[in-house]
Amino acid sequence: MAIRINDTDVAVPDDPRVSLLDLLRDGLHLTGTKVGCNQGACGACTVLIDGKRSLSCLTLAVQADGRSVTTIEGIGSAAQPHALQSAFIEHDGFQCGYCTPGQICAAVAMLQEIADGIPSYVTADLAEKRILLSSEEIRERMSGNLCRCGAHNGIVEAILHHARENAA
Ligand code: FES
Ligand code: FES
Repeated sequence: MAIRINDTDVAVPDDPRVSLLDLLRDGLHLTGTKVGCNQGACGACTVLIDGKRSLSCLTLAVQADGRSVTTIEGIGSAAQPHALQSAFIEHDGFQCGYCTPGQICAAVAMLQEIADGIPSYVTADLAEKRILLSSEEIRERMSGNLCRCGAHNGIVEAILHHARENAA
């Protein structure tokens, strides 16, 4: 039994009660993934499982058996930041930075959801295959990721800028 984490196979813990969040932080010292509420309400612990955004505090490590997990360490680094990380810096998408790894992981998956034509609560035309990228769409889709510093305006701007650059 193994979980592929950032392209490395990791053994599933013997104790089935261990959350994916605790495995990442305490077991593997991948502390980029943050603990906020530890009950599914803040998004600080967001990682990608098979490319989909997932709350690692609500996921048992054993549930990730055989799956591919990407944490912020697998998305970019200080030396080689992901373009979205650079956009967050450029557009003041953070203050303390505690929520930022979760915001970045969520945004990576969220932009793929838009590209896949998955509508949100605010999408006007559910039959529309090409969803129009707007601040409203991004605010709605990122509403599961709280920022206690109130950097949401910068976060939305960073994501919009990044998405538009990539679409160009
Ligand atoms: Fe997981 Fe808050 S720590 S949602
Ligand atoms: Fe501080 Fe978001 S930047 S919580």
